[in-house]
This record gives sequence, C-alpha cells and structure tokens, in this order.
Amino acid sequence: MADSRAIGIFDSGLGGLTVAKQIMSLCPDESIVYFGDTGRVPYGTKGVDTIRKYAAEDIRFLLGKDVKMIVAACGTVSAVAADAGKDLSVPFIEVISHSVKDAAAATVNGKIGVLATPATVKSHAHKNLIEKLMPKAQVFETAAPLLVSLAEEGLYGKKNEIARLTVEHYLNGMKNMGIDTLILGCTHFPVFRELISDYLPGVTLIDMGLSAAKYVKETLEKTGSRNTGEAHAHYFYVSDKPVTFEKTVKIFLGENAEDLKTDLVDVEKI
Ligand code: DGL
Repeated sequence: MADSRAIGIFDSGLGGLTVAKQIMSLCPDESIVYFGDTGRVPYGTKGVDTIRKYAAEDIRFLLGKDVKMIVAACGTVSAVAADAGKDLSVPFIEVISHSVKDAAAATVNGKIGVLATPATVKSHAHKNLIEKLMPKAQVFETAAPLLVSLAEEGLYGKKNEIARLTVEHYLNGMKNMGIDTLILGCTHFPVFRELISDYLPGVTLIDMGLSAAKYVKETLEKTGSRNTGEAHAHYFYVSDKPVTFEKTVKIFLGENAEDLKTDLVDVEKI
C-alpha cells in the first residue's frame, strides 16, 4: 500500500541535513519534514537525561506532523536516547547500527576509527556494536565537539584554515593507528569529508547518513509504504533561526534547498 505521508527527520541542529540529503537522493519521491533543534544545539556535550528529554520532545513534534517514519539523524540521540523511539506507531530509524555494518564490510585490516560527539564516544555505541560483529576489531574513538559548532556556522570548506586545523587537532591521535576505515559518527561531520580525507589519505569514510538512507529505502519498500504519487514540498522546522541559517542550509542541501519552507517552533510547548 502506498503512503504519501512525509518522512520525519530530526537532529540537534543542521547536521542532520546531511542525512536528509542522502534520503532525498535515494528516495526522490518522498517528502521530508525536518526538525533541527538549532535553539538547543549542541546535544553532544550535554548529559544523557537532557538528551533523552530533547529526543522525546523532537519525536513528539514530528509525530504531530503525521509522518510515516521517524529518522533520528543524530548520532548522539541514536547512541544514548534511542529508547525514545521504542514503541512508536511508526518505524523509528537510528543512524548508528547501519553505519557499523557498512564499516565492518569496508575494513580490510579490522582497524576502525570513530569520530563523534563526547556523549556518543562516552556511550561506546559504535565500538560495542563493532566488537559484536567483529570481535577481533580494534576501535579507536575520538570526540570532536568543536566540529559541531564549526559546521553550524558554515565553517567547513576545504579552504577554511580554522576547520583544517580543528580536523587535524582531533585526528592527530588517530593518524598513526593504522585505521583503514573511519566512521563519521556525528551527522555534522560529512561536511568535513574533504579535509578529513586530506589528513587521512586512503582511509574509507563512512557517512552515517548514507548508511541510514539505504535502510530507510529498504524499510519503505519492505513495508510497502513508498510514496507512489507526486512528492509534496519538504518542510523545515527549527527552534531558532541563526543569522547564518539560510546560507548554511543551502550549503548543506545544495539544490534541494530551493523553495525552502522554514518555520520556527518551540517544541517544549507542544
Ligand atoms: N549531529 C549530531 C550527532 O550526530 C549532534 C551534534 C551535537 O548536537 O552535538 O551527534
């Protein structure tokens, strides 16, 4: 049975747009309702109880938009608050487990790096899953909180020296570990892909958004809930509109940002 309702996607801010972009590209007939909690970003440096509360509010907001599926496009929520997505009336998709499967398939030497937020690294969510799949794997984790702020500010181009130095600062310890695969364990980080590849040449970078998007597509097909009619417009909701918002969204989404419809919402009051 076809289902024309939108897919709900949320993140602490604009980083989840890297996931939305992958979903838009693999599932071009689907409409998206995106919520970016730009007023409360970052999540990744906050305590687990706060992240859980925020995740529950974000999900409640999206359910109110009558979505057919919810994607937690946030590594931090997926790592420490995936419980918030249990027992929903619609499928809930997190971003960690699918990226781990892709990393396990990609690695040749079994040495995998994880670059994520402090909360995600502290949870060892990727590491625990990798070790279940590949007991002999060696996993190296690094928290890179400043990269989240740089991405939200739109400071991530290949020519941006601040971004380059920050990437090098965080990956310095991992550089000589011999990893052949690195999971970009925060959905803000794919925008630093070029800088990371320059610093770690030859290392396969796993984009959690792409891994999750493949699973979203598979789930829509399996449950017969693809949209077979005309796609509606995408809607974006944010809890704050930073000054650089329009520019940053356009950089994140590229041509998908045409006719952007954005509204401000206070999810705590909903
Ligand atoms: N983009 C999010 C993640 O994947 C959160 C970054 C943050 O809010 O700290 O972890």
